[in-house]
Formats: sequence, structure tokens, C-alpha cells
Amino acid sequence: MKILVTGGAGFIGSHTVVELVSAGYEPIIVDNFSNSERKVIGKIEEIIEQKITSYDLDCRNQKALDSVFAEHPDITGVIHFAAYKSVSESVNKPERYYENNLASLTSICTSIEKYGVRKFVFSSSCTVYGIPEQVPVDEHHPIGEATNPYAHTKQISEQVLYGLCKYNKALNVVLLRYFNPIGAHPSGLIGELPEGPPDNLVPFITQTAAGWRDKLVIFGNDYETPDGTCIRDFIHVQDLARAHVKAIQWEDTAGNIEAFNIGSGRGHSVKEIVDTFEKQTRINVAKEIGQRRAGDIPAIFASVEKAKNILNWEAKMTIDDAVNHAWKWQQSLENKK
Ligand code: UD1
Repeated sequence: MKILVTGGAGFIGSHTVVELVSAGYEPIIVDNFSNSERKVIGKIEEIIEQKITSYDLDCRNQKALDSVFAEHPDITGVIHFAAYKSVSESVNKPERYYENNLASLTSICTSIEKYGVRKFVFSSSCTVYGIPEQVPVDEHHPIGEATNPYAHTKQISEQVLYGLCKYNKALNVVLLRYFNPIGAHPSGLIGELPEGPPDNLVPFITQTAAGWRDKLVIFGNDYETPDGTCIRDFIHVQDLARAHVKAIQWEDTAGNIEAFNIGSGRGHSVKEIVDTFEKQTRINVAKEIGQRRAGDIPAIFASVEKAKNILNWEAKMTIDDAVNHAWKWQQSLENKK
């Protein structure tokens, strides 16, 4: 079965493509390579040991997107990753975020309506909950006030999909609300490579260990948490990728749209992640304690019962696995600084 994967060359998209192939699907990648490299396609092919169909196009280009569906009338589902995802950039360039993230969504929704595709999996985020009222956060937690434009685009996108599902009963939509994806493929062939200094914790740790960055700044150690640093729910990207396969396979929606938290169900502090990396790799990471980062939430982690009970999915990999795989990936980049 053919599944169209927008943003299929990106961090989560590329891992999902690999998992789709091992589950017997035929993924078709659409990516404009604005935040990924073309050579990722070759790396995916190396892992799956077969060729993959990919299109270099922007999802906002309705005509070009439609032509992919016209060329593959047997596409049965879409997983939509293609979006900008930097919180800090979204604060500086909000228009860019609203325009790209929302126009891509409406364009892909127009195509699936036109070509009769029923199954749609959307790449959402725990950021839709805003500052959590309690942890763990389950799917009944109210949608909070968006803390930045990126978060707002995820909330609006979910609302658009709820709206479409209300009026188009033929649609079957799964919203996957990711917590903190980390790690890389165990082969070290694909992983996360942000442009410039990373915003996210684990790429910053691995790049510091590799000597690309002088030091890691831990943003605050005076939070009301056991060790004073923030707590997050870190989820291995390969586990996260498998959740998409489960979402594609799941047909049995009571309504026609469901949201699921995709996390490990456990909270780990920033300090614990740094300690785990140092212990696993035996590398001392240059670091200092800095100021709190504006907008950071002290602690958030998921209740993952719904995904477990309904999608029959749960995280299997550990943070040891994640830091080891992230480091293997970083080392493969050593000469490409
Ligand atoms: C953020 C977004 C989330 C988004 C994710 C993907 C919010 C509230 N969260 O997650 O929606 O999906 O990015 O990009 O908008 N840290 C350091 N030093 C660093 C980098 C990070 O101490 O150099 C700390 C942060 O303060 C935070 C933790 O590490 O406590 C995780 O940060 P990060 O990886 O940026 O993810 P979030 O902010 O949790």
C-alpha cells in the first residue's frame, strides 16, 4: 500500500519511511529539502536496501502536489510532517510559520479530498497543551494558551482537522502529539541535523561532545524539580516512527478523528540526560549552568495509556539507546562540520 509522506526526508519523517517499509508499505516522499539534505534519500535507501520514490516539491504548491496523487492513484494514506519546527525562529518570524505550516496543511487536505484519500496522520506536538495544569498529561488535558507561534500553528492545524472531520465523515484522521523526540537510527545513517547551533538539547550535547560547540548551557537549575533542571518526556525517534505505522494501520475510530500522546510516559531531567550521555559515551561534556530560557515549562511528561490501549503502541527503547544512537549519528558527521 502506498503512503505519501510529506517531509519524509526530515528527522522524524526519514525514520518513519524506514519503519513503513519494514511494515510492508510503499512510502512516497514529498519534501522541499528546506530543512533536510537531499542525500538523506540515499541513506534511507541504504537502510531499506531498495529504491524509494521521492519528489522535490513544496506542499504549498497545490498543482505539483495534485500531480503526485494523479501519478499514484493507489495512495491510501498520508502522513503529514512537512512544517517548520523551531520555537525560537517562530517567535522572530511568525508570518513565515503561519504561512508555511497552515498553507501546507490546507493544500494537502485539498489534494486528499480531490483524490479520495481517507487516511491522514498529522504530526502534532505536546506543545498544544500549553503550560500543563498537571502531569502526566493525558489527551483530556485542555488545549492551553499557545506559548509561541509554532505552538499556535499546531493548535490551529488540529482545529482545521477537527473541522474537516466534522463535515467530511469519510475522513479518518489521527493526531500524534509528540513529546521530545531524540536519538537516531541505530545504523547511524540518519538522524537529526539542524542548521546552525541547535535549539534542542540532545543535538547540542552531541555537537558539544564532538567539539562543534564550546559548551552546553543548561538553561536553569533552580526549577522546582528534584535536581532543579527541567523535566521532559524524551522519546526515541524509532519508537516515534513506529507509532506512525500503528496510526496508519488503525481503522477503528469511534468518531473519525483521534489524538494520541506519543511519549515514553516517563520524565527525565535535563541533567539526567547529560549524565546519561556522559556515562554511556565516557565523554565529559563541557557545560555550565545558565539562565532559564524564556518560555520553558518546568516539567511535562505524557500519559501514554491511550496509545497503548487503542493503537497497541508503546515505547520500547531507553534513553541509553537514544544517546548512544545520537552519538553514533553525530560521529558519522564528524568530517562534515
Ligand atoms: C520544544 C517545544 C516542542 C517542540 C520541540 C521540538 C515548547 C514548549 N516545546 O521542546 O513543542 O516540539 O521543541 O523542537 O515549545 N536545554 C538546555 N540547553 C540547551 C537546549 C535545551 O538546557 O542548549 C533544555 C531546555 O531548557 C529544556 C530541555 O533542555 O528544558 C529540552 O529543550 P528542547 O530540546 O529545546 O525541547 P523543548 O523546549 O522541551
